[in-house]
Amino acid sequence: MNILVVGGGGREHAIIKSLKKSPRVTKIYAAPGNGGIAADAVCTGIGAKDLEAITKFAKENAIDFAVVAPDDPLVLGAVDLLEAEGIPCFGPNKKAAILEGSKVFSKNLMKKYHIPTAEYQVFDDMEAALKYLETAPIPTVVKADGLALGKGVTVAMTREEAVAAVKSCMEDKVFGESGSHIVIEEFLTGPEVSVLSFTDGSVVIPMVSSMDHKRAGDGDTGPNTGGMGTVAPNPYYTEEVARRCMEEIFLPTMRAMNAEGRTFKGCLYFGLMLTEKGPKVIEYNCRFGDPETQVVLPLLESDLLTVMEATAQGKLAETEVKFSPRHACCVVLASEGYPKKYESGYPITIPADLEAEVFVAGAKLDGQVLKTSGGRVLGVTALGDTLEQAIQKAYDQAGRVKFANAYCRRDIGARALRAKEAGK
Ligand code: AMP
Ligand code: GLY
Repeated sequence: MNILVVGGGGREHAIIKSLKKSPRVTKIYAAPGNGGIAADAVCTGIGAKDLEAITKFAKENAIDFAVVAPDDPLVLGAVDLLEAEGIPCFGPNKKAAILEGSKVFSKNLMKKYHIPTAEYQVFDDMEAALKYLETAPIPTVVKADGLALGKGVTVAMTREEAVAAVKSCMEDKVFGESGSHIVIEEFLTGPEVSVLSFTDGSVVIPMVSSMDHKRAGDGDTGPNTGGMGTVAPNPYYTEEVARRCMEEIFLPTMRAMNAEGRTFKGCLYFGLMLTEKGPKVIEYNCRFGDPETQVVLPLLESDLLTVMEATAQGKLAETEVKFSPRHACCVVLASEGYPKKYESGYPITIPADLEAEVFVAGAKLDGQVLKTSGGRVLGVTALGDTLEQAIQKAYDQAGRVKFANAYCRRDIGARALRAKEAGK
């Protein structure tokens, strides 16, 4: 089969490497792909948001199955366009992708269907939002309604910060139209867990749980990033928590989307916070997480293509989705300075005998030479029989991958390890 994967980051590289293991895959194309993905797929260079070019390419190149990985093309309706041309796809259609595309939609859905989440208010008028903030409990959380390149959320520890966040969304429009509606919500505390799931509208099959590390610096300090590393499984996600999440969150969400006439097929990502009052939804994403995918898919033992096709066809209930009981750790190597100013264009060397998988996010080919081209350059994922072994190996192997100005957090997995030792 000919497969087209839309996207060009570390997540897409992990999806492509996993798909490549399927005996039924003949050729994989990526839109756009990147310099590292080029080792595993044909990179078309077509932008992930150029839906017209993607659809045209898929038709002209006899694509049998498409995987739309990033949020933007999903929310714009890439799946609808491809399916209209008769190309089966993995990913939600536009009506279902709104679950990530609009925070106002997702919050109202959770309220209507009694799915546990932070208390909230919606505002489309700045004066009203500012008035509310005069007496709102602090800390508070300000969220732009629409997609904002992952930057639309401000956890405000003071009233001034909350006011500034509202003004930057609604007055300065730093997120464009995404910020003309905002959600102001209750500040929750507790460990965070990412649970990616396959769902076809009749069953939800959670993948192995994971833990992201969003801040740039050790000890969860510094600015928010796209994710500096991950571990799986997440030790806070015990069997008891998993059972509650299935009953109180996963199935109710799937049913709510069905009831709204927005059946969700694809990867539904639950960003959860385990509060003292039980698990609550922090966010839904309509896609695989990045860099969660880089630890989750290496643990998948079933054939990814088969699972993705079953998801698209509504046949998940009959399909085996099996994960290894082992542990995985992904350490992201970034360009020093990320997420602020950084330099790129440096050659990358990856030893041929590396005992880990490399998922490339921000690199391009200069002739035959792979050079850094982004903030997050690549992720190094290692597996181990224990979490400790996976972490140790990921760092040992990441240390063997070289490029100038490389930066990584030194404590990926440390919190998970402490939780494990504390018997969580
Ligand atoms: P997001 O950009 O939606 O992934 O949110 C970024 C981060 O903000 C989340 O991973 C949480 O750590 C934090 N966050 C979002 N909503 C809340 C909330 N209601 N209470 C506390 N922290 C939150
Ligand atoms: N790692 C968080 C996300 O993919 O949104």
